[in-house]
Amino acid sequence: MLKFSGFLLLVLGVGAVVNAASQVPLVSLNGIAGLESNPSTQVPSAADYRLNDLNLLSSEEFSVLNHPAFPHYSVRIKKSDFCDGNVGTYTGYIDISEVRHLFFYFFESRNDPDTDDVVFWTNGGPGASSAMGLFMELGPCRVAGPNSTTYNPYGWNDKANVFFIDQPVGVGFSYADYGEKVETTPEAAKDIAAFVAIFFEHFSKFKGRGFHMAGESYGGRYVPLFASAVYDQNAKLIEAGLTPINLSSIMIGNGCTDFSYLMESYYDMQCTPVSVPPIQDISTCVRMKQAVRFGLNPLANAIELLLWDSYRYHDALFCDSELDAPFAMSGYNPYDISKRCEGELLDTFCYPLNKDISAYLSQRTVREILGVDNSLPLNFSSFNVDVNRAFLGNWDHMFPTQLYIAALLERGIRVLIYAGSYDVACNWVSNERMLLNMEWLGQEEFRSQPLREWTVDGVHAGRTRSAGLLTFATIDGAGHMAPYDKPVESLVLANKWLAGDEL
Ligand SMILES: *[C@@H]1O[C@H](CO)[C@@H](O)[C@H](O)[C@H]1NC(C)=O
Ligand SMILES: *[C@@H]1O[C@H](CO)[C@@H](O)[C@H](O)[C@H]1NC(C)=O
Ligand SMILES: *[C@@H]1O[C@H](CO)[C@@H](O)[C@H](O)[C@H]1NC(C)=O
Repeated sequence: MLKFSGFLLLVLGVGAVVNAASQVPLVSLNGIAGLESNPSTQVPSAADYRLNDLNLLSSEEFSVLNHPAFPHYSVRIKKSDFCDGNVGTYTGYIDISEVRHLFFYFFESRNDPDTDDVVFWTNGGPGASSAMGLFMELGPCRVAGPNSTTYNPYGWNDKANVFFIDQPVGVGFSYADYGEKVETTPEAAKDIAAFVAIFFEHFSKFKGRGFHMAGESYGGRYVPLFASAVYDQNAKLIEAGLTPINLSSIMIGNGCTDFSYLMESYYDMQCTPVSVPPIQDISTCVRMKQAVRFGLNPLANAIELLLWDSYRYHDALFCDSELDAPFAMSGYNPYDISKRCEGELLDTFCYPLNKDISAYLSQRTVREILGVDNSLPLNFSSFNVDVNRAFLGNWDHMFPTQLYIAALLERGIRVLIYAGSYDVACNWVSNERMLLNMEWLGQEEFRSQPLREWTVDGVHAGRTRSAGLLTFATIDGAGHMAPYDKPVESLVLANKWLAGDEL
């Protein structure tokens, strides 16, 4: 087995790739959301399966909810005052075909849960738990040590009802009973679309509410596919007499959306002053530039042609050794080029706080409050290496995912792409280049816009460019986990976006 030495795949996950493109078949689902083909004969008028008042749920034990339109799915949910303390808080599982179980945290809005929009959040990896997003970045609390949390005044439930989900199965507190695996984003998208449909159908208070799908890092691949699956599923929901999901927007932070723009941008980040002064010496930079010129164009073409062959594999290895290996050796933090990595990359992800988060989520008392299934190992792991290898082994990351973004834009879904300016892993340069070159009806207008400053209380926060439904923004001085580094600016960005206001 060949090994990636550099950090590219460490940022997506871990520095090893399996040389196999085998697809493990999933348990077959009945339709995209598991909808019965003819549910009209079964849907009862009774409100028994709808929970308008989430407050009625027990905090002691799970309530199990079933829905006749989704016979292969059920929901286990419990109430608590976890993390925020002042808002309705619910955790649980969506159980799929009785064998796959997706864990979620749901926090109601601090503003007005009855009218505010709903935000879905996933971290990336592939294989990373959304615990990092919740407890380090934009959740209502932050882990402050192995046994405690502190209130986060900049949580994104400031003006929205927010979900955090561990996905796909095998990640975080999500699990499968018989070793079923989800190893590509299109497969993961099926479970997510079902999850979303079931949530809104059960929690009818939120029905028709504006819905925003958000994510970070590998979320740059996840979120466009998840939102597309939700969008396409709406036709089936309508056909079945159910309320469609009011998908309003996608929001991607420091996304890895296109592999070839990303590879190319590693040169810019390390050898030009687009973010910080060049960190590599000239001879290394010249080698890197040659790799970009001679290695990437064929790679990009191969991706376009969807040639799933060894040629791409070796090309990828070449890019890896020439473009990201020098960075890996530099000792800088790939998530924040202004800093050194604290700890071992795979142990702390450069932030020792991640170890506290894992310790916190390994406590029995915390798990009882959350209702974590007893079958899970007591040691919480924020990152599933096997899931990561399986996705990368299937070349999931090689797909030009902006094709989905363009399709969403053309169907009226708003798109926000933002990036902390110090991140190398899925940096702002690659995101900007990807968007400038993305073909869609608004491309010309988008390209013609200047990259202008945006501010918070009159102080420079970053730069932005938008046209029509598409907005690109940088958050200056933030790294990969932007809401951790710049909580105020990130919340202003999120709230303005949700309100439909310009930056
Ligand atoms: C955290 O709590 C556990 C018991 O739940 C205890 O054993 C441990 O010493 C505590 N750690 C700290 C740092 O307080
Ligand atoms: C969908 O959500 C938006 C808010 O994001 C809201 O303005 C709109 O009225 C909603 N549409 C429907 C049909 O409820
Ligand atoms: C759990 O983690 C601790 C600390 O990392 C380790 O010492 C222990 O062996 C682990 N236990 C299991 C069952 O993996």
